[in-house]
Amino acid sequence: MDRTFNTEDEFRAFAGEFGRSLHAGEVVGLSGPLGAGKTTFVQSLVRARTGSDPTSSPTFTFWQRYAGEPPIDHLDLYRVDDPSDMNELGLDEAFDGSSIIVVEWWRNAPALLPPVHYEVEIDGSGTGPRRVRVTRT
Ligand SMILES: Nc1ncnc2c1ncn2[C@@H]1O[C@H](COP(=O)(O)OP(=O)(O)OP(=O)(O)O)[C@@H](O)[C@H]1O
Ligand SMILES: [Mg+2]
Repeated sequence: MDRTFNTEDEFRAFAGEFGRSLHAGEVVGLSGPLGAGKTTFVQSLVRARTGSDPTSSPTFTFWQRYAGEPPIDHLDLYRVDDPSDMNELGLDEAFDGSSIIVVEWWRNAPALLPPVHYEVEIDGSGTGPRRVRVTRT
């Protein structure tokens, strides 16, 4: 899938639609430059699935779990330099198949993603349009 959204509302609506199609155990890796809209995508996905606004997490929180059916784990690996750091973070709990997992900056720890996952690549910046490509490996 490769689509372009001219407004943030359209972009958010797509993220919600995509989010509603997900099931427990599915993993989504988000990529794209700073400010492309990765967090906005996750927040819209969470809102669509849970009906409530996710509280914006403090920047030092790299792992946020949202209650839902199933729960949604949002990881932000922006600050991960060494993927082996991930071993100590207790992420097994997130990857036990009982939640939906969305990972921002997943390329900082590519081995974290299971072989089967979605990749969402977002391009664009500022108030300009966003190009979104979704692939499933
Ligand atoms: N068409 C659009 N689609 C998506 N976001 C848009 C659009 N136009 C403007 N924006 C704005 O772009 C910003 C995207 O920021 P966001 O934090 O989601 O990016 P990010 O990819 O998570 O960045 P970072 O790499 O810093 O985590 C938001 O402030 C959003 O309001
Ligand atoms: Mg972000």
